[in-house]
Amino acid sequence: MKRIGILTGGGDCPGLNAVIRSVAKPALTYFGSTVVGIEDGFEGLVEGKMHELTPRDVGGILNLGGTILGTSNKGNPFKYPIETPNGVDVVDYSENAIRNYRDWKLDVIVAIGGDGTMHIVDKFTELGLNFVGVPKTIDNDLSSTDMTFGYDSAVSVASEAIDRLHTTASAHHRVMIVEVMGRYAGWIALGAGLAGGADAILIPEIPFQWKKISEHVLRRSKQGSRFSIVCVAEGAKPAEGGLVVKEEDKKRTDPIRLGGIGELVGKNITESTGLETRVVVLGHVQRGGSPTPFDRILATKYGSMALQLASEKKFGHMVSLRGNDVMAVPVKEAILKLRTVPLDSQLILAARAVGTSFGD
Ligand code: F6P
Repeated sequence: MKRIGILTGGGDCPGLNAVIRSVAKPALTYFGSTVVGIEDGFEGLVEGKMHELTPRDVGGILNLGGTILGTSNKGNPFKYPIETPNGVDVVDYSENAIRNYRDWKLDVIVAIGGDGTMHIVDKFTELGLNFVGVPKTIDNDLSSTDMTFGYDSAVSVASEAIDRLHTTASAHHRVMIVEVMGRYAGWIALGAGLAGGADAILIPEIPFQWKKISEHVLRRSKQGSRFSIVCVAEGAKPAEGGLVVKEEDKKRTDPIRLGGIGELVGKNITESTGLETRVVVLGHVQRGGSPTPFDRILATKYGSMALQLASEKKFGHMVSLRGNDVMAVPVKEAILKLRTVPLDSQLILAARAVGTSFGD
């Protein structure tokens, strides 16, 4: 492995720098490789933006959130968005990416990303390029791995927020609705809701009934608990309705931006129960800041395994967590479907057992 490329694709999350560090440090120190940092995800590969990483670049970044390489969720080389006088056109620029890969004489690219990134990795692998994948996303929705890094950090932020909301909700006898991220999978809402003791948790996997939520908070109120916390995933939807979309942007790998379900839940509870509500949207706070120790460790294990896979020429594979062990799985397997919360998950059963409503 003389020349190793590395990029971070899609939305950022805490732990990206920890992976970059654990790939680059041994590659520079023990393998004597050159490490090429590709800027802004696949956008950099298409547009030729990169710089070589030095030991100094990758020192002191273990606990740093974001990514020193920059990232983008608009740079899919196979569906590259370009501005035209008539708006945005989507074109196949994969040739540019392949040309840069060859011009930079890369032996492999370690691509750190979520589902969108792994789909791109799979396509380039089919075209004969050498890629190794590392799974990241706060949503924790990638298949073939028990966990993506970033999830633990997001849950930690969201559950701390719920703790804080408890005290003010209780003081004012209010229903607090906290909207967390999670487009198609409710892992964050479930993890944070369980850790924070939310009274209702709404997730995409369990379409909810408006009436059931109102009845639940009203019952609590009548029984003397004069406040409630409702933790809502941005992708949660009522049984008779769809996703609440904030805007559409053709440039994005996934064109829809979600947001707003929390407001609807708050409005509905006020109207149907007369209880006072407040809505808090945590948004990108969940993606910012320093990774938790768990994520730093997982990211470091992932990075060192990714380098090992590269040196063994196990291309087209993604590192994955199974139990406590980090191993390799074919990227093809990881992109077959999204990892949503199983309805018989112990997390759901445990939440139900302590009286949490899922609005169903
Ligand atoms: O996929 C991770 C995620 O954080 C989603 O939960 C969320 O919908 C999306 O990214 C937000 O993306 P953006 O940074 O483009 O607003």
